[in-house]
Amino acid sequence: MSQLKAWRAAIVHCIADPKDVGIDAAYEYFEDGLLVVKGDKIHALGDATQLIPTLPNDLAIEHHPDAIITPGFIDTHIHYPQTDMIGSYGEQLLTWLNTYTFPEESKFSDKAYARDVADRFLKELLRNGTTTALVFGTVHKVSVDAFFEASEVHNLRMICGKVMMDRNAPGYLTDTPESSYKESKELIDAWHNKGRLHYAITPRFAPTSSDEQLKLAGKLLSEYDDVYLHTHLSENKDECAWVQGLFPKSKNYLDVYDQHKLLSERSVFAHGIHLCDSEYHRLHETGSAISFCPTSNLFIGSGLFKLSKAEEHNVNVGLGTDVGGGTSFSMLQTMNEAYKVIQLQNENLSPIKSLYLSTLGGAKALRLEGKVGNLAVGTEADFVILDTRGTPLLESRLALSKNIEESLFVFMTIGDDRAIQATYSAGQCVHKR
Ligand code: GUN
Ligand code: ZN
Repeated sequence: MSQLKAWRAAIVHCIADPKDVGIDAAYEYFEDGLLVVKGDKIHALGDATQLIPTLPNDLAIEHHPDAIITPGFIDTHIHYPQTDMIGSYGEQLLTWLNTYTFPEESKFSDKAYARDVADRFLKELLRNGTTTALVFGTVHKVSVDAFFEASEVHNLRMICGKVMMDRNAPGYLTDTPESSYKESKELIDAWHNKGRLHYAITPRFAPTSSDEQLKLAGKLLSEYDDVYLHTHLSENKDECAWVQGLFPKSKNYLDVYDQHKLLSERSVFAHGIHLCDSEYHRLHETGSAISFCPTSNLFIGSGLFKLSKAEEHNVNVGLGTDVGGGTSFSMLQTMNEAYKVIQLQNENLSPIKSLYLSTLGGAKALRLEGKVGNLAVGTEADFVILDTRGTPLLESRLALSKNIEESLFVFMTIGDDRAIQATYSAGQCVHKR
């Protein structure tokens, strides 16, 4: 019996950033493609009619004439503990946090509760074709244990961390600089690089950490080669003014993190809406990345992310849902809202750039390129089968599509979880509709 498995369908993936090489050179498309997987890795990719004769006769081929295969989606910013508070009405960031978020997050001191939410959260990600995510836990250490234990079951490439938060939050949700350092370190030692899992040092945002806590976060970051730093940056105008008041010696919001040595090639900052040129420049210089979270930015009224500014300064950008500030687990729906955010600034977001941001661009932002993000031979077999007949409207609209770019755009405008026929992680099926 051959160890190989193969999927035959239309296949599309990005191989570069359209900003660097132009749209046409940024992707590969096989109208009648074959994706061959050996164990957990991609073994071959190409035109079905050319590849099949080179492969063993007993090769099992799953044929999907009505499907498009893409890489698994990468969500560069999401909060698993906010799964059950999605769609909380009527507030902007700071009131939203106090009214809805903090009370919900308090429940995660209970590990059984955390595990139940983590299981449902991961199921929701996989139903939506997301195979990798950079994930906030809560301040409770057990929330991260529960998340990693749940991720291990499906062998997912996931990044998570315990929130560090020692001020400006309810007492039931705060830690101390020392306890947050110690618990984060214990979690790194237990989980970082265990199988496909990675740890992110996770100060919530500047207002909820003292100087001392941010300093210890920077110390921890310097003690490991490859752990991540994950936080929020310049999301909301009131938040930015608050940060200026709390850290009067800082030149700007990013400088608070910079002064505490939190900028690195593995640092990911969610939102980055209200930034000045020197902040973009410093993000670029340090190899830090921004997670663009359009559904959240619209829902909590934060503002419009300036993708062209980030591009001009060569800052790495990925796409994030930011559930529960964000309103959908679907990266297709996140691309839909991203398009509109860019439209409102009189610019265009091409479907190939959107695909890039939610796959290879996300992988680059997370320094996981070469492992996940596209379907290159040797990378991990994380992929999605998109069903052109997922809904009656998708079927009728896609029947009129003239090319792959138009088809992708239709998927990312009217598609959602119903378009995801199956999701594979490391070669194994982890969701089938
Ligand atoms: N800033 C600090 N905490 C949060 C959070 O939980 N969600 C969002 N969107 N922004 C934040
Ligand atoms: Zn967030």
